[in-house]
Amino acid sequence: MAYIGGVKRHARGIFQRFRGLRPSIRTAGAFAVAISLLLGCGSFIPSTQAITPKVVNGVESSAGEFPFLVALLDPADLESEGAFQAQFCAASLVAPTKLITAAHCVVNQKSGVTDKPANIVAGFARDLDTRNVPTINVSAIDVHPDYAIRSSRNDIAVLTLASPATNVPLISVLTPELAGEYTAPGHLTEVAGWGNTSTSGNRYPPIFHTGNLVVFPDATCGGDRSYVVNGVKFEGFNPREVDTEVMLCAGGATPAGKIVDACQGDSGGPLIASGSAGPMLIGIVSWGEDCASRYPGVYTRVSAEFTFLNNAGAITILTPTLAPQVSIVPLNNSLQFTITPGADGISVTQYAVSILGPTQTSPDTQNALSCFAAPSEKKVAGTCAIDGLINGAEYTVTAISANTTGNSPPSAPVSASPSDLPIAGTIRKVKFSGARALFSLTSSNANSAEVLREQVVCVPTGTGPTRSGSIDRNEATVTKMTKKNYRCSVHITTTAGNAVSAQRRVKR
Ligand code: ARG
Repeated sequence: MAYIGGVKRHARGIFQRFRGLRPSIRTAGAFAVAISLLLGCGSFIPSTQAITPKVVNGVESSAGEFPFLVALLDPADLESEGAFQAQFCAASLVAPTKLITAAHCVVNQKSGVTDKPANIVAGFARDLDTRNVPTINVSAIDVHPDYAIRSSRNDIAVLTLASPATNVPLISVLTPELAGEYTAPGHLTEVAGWGNTSTSGNRYPPIFHTGNLVVFPDATCGGDRSYVVNGVKFEGFNPREVDTEVMLCAGGATPAGKIVDACQGDSGGPLIASGSAGPMLIGIVSWGEDCASRYPGVYTRVSAEFTFLNNAGAITILTPTLAPQVSIVPLNNSLQFTITPGADGISVTQYAVSILGPTQTSPDTQNALSCFAAPSEKKVAGTCAIDGLINGAEYTVTAISANTTGNSPPSAPVSASPSDLPIAGTIRKVKFSGARALFSLTSSNANSAEVLREQVVCVPTGTGPTRSGSIDRNEATVTKMTKKNYRCSVHITTTAGNAVSAQRRVKR
């Protein structure tokens, strides 16, 4: 994997300040051993004997994923050593001035005292190893009134930002009505954070990682039952350790059978699931039995904390104020739309695109047609298409963003026409060996017509012969490129017509 991991020299909250107890003491394993000793029952086998500690098996996030993920930073460490060293927990932006995190990130685990807002800043960056990570001060900390340090019940807190985070997409909070769907056993879910990627040492990534998990049935979480994910058998916690009313278990395994889990430093961060109302915050990284052991991770059950979250002002759902942007791809008797939200940072659960124009079944009237798209779990954009249209006819296109509170205003109408003309691919990469250039391309779209010719054409910037090469499986070789500078483009000709991509400068 292409990241430079590192040891955090201070790892402030992680091992000292907020988590006064070291993770190995604080974990449920030690707790369970203590219980079995107390009960005089020696049959509990600490999971550490059964597993080989390995990395936590997530993957580095890609740009645009989890845009609402916020790093909690120690301002003193930030000043002296930068955001990477200063990060101690994570949080999720649920309103322009509200973050949800874990209570154990902001409550001293020995004294029970809540931290001062001045001791935390919110960092907005995917890569913490960059110079000027944008930050916003925290002005208030609300810890759940029934947060219990020993049991980790109600491990949830709301941080208020001193000024609103603008242009940062929010994540919606799972409400009790949707809990059945979003936290159903086996439901796919994802965790993200800057936490340790190693279970045997300290390896903290500058760019946050994400891991694919599934929601565990309660009987396997606080009911001692085992549960199998991708062929890996996970043990369950017992009811003394996990209260499934307010906690939720999630665990995962890669196809190769490596366990995927959150780990130290991920605390306070989001567990996200998708469903009928778009992506939602369903859990908060709370605790675990070491990391990537044969136990699932334990998360604060967000849908059970509605009253607290509502009182703390974290539930306000705002109506989108800005229309979305629509990009249109004309296809054969069809229009395809990619919709991105307006930059008001308000979470969108659905987009609707409406068009007005003739259809194949009703060619002489102006028909109103629409398609709907939901933002995908990872990205805020959605796509949908409308078929049954007529090539060359004109359609008026508008779009709105919506969430459970209402709709944005519609976007300014634009016109578009379906077409069976091809769509040229683009040049991704060029590699020279002498005067021979190998092009890697994105695929062209013949748009239901028959392809007659597909080439890369290169025109020298000064005088000299134009060179070209046929495209085969998204690759083309152009030879005798003896000049220094060319402008190259993809040309595709079908029985319906031809198309040329934008030019790309190519230097030998
Ligand atoms: N308590 C840990 C922290 O403070 C969270 C780790 C969660 N552990 C797990 N195995 N899922 O960062």
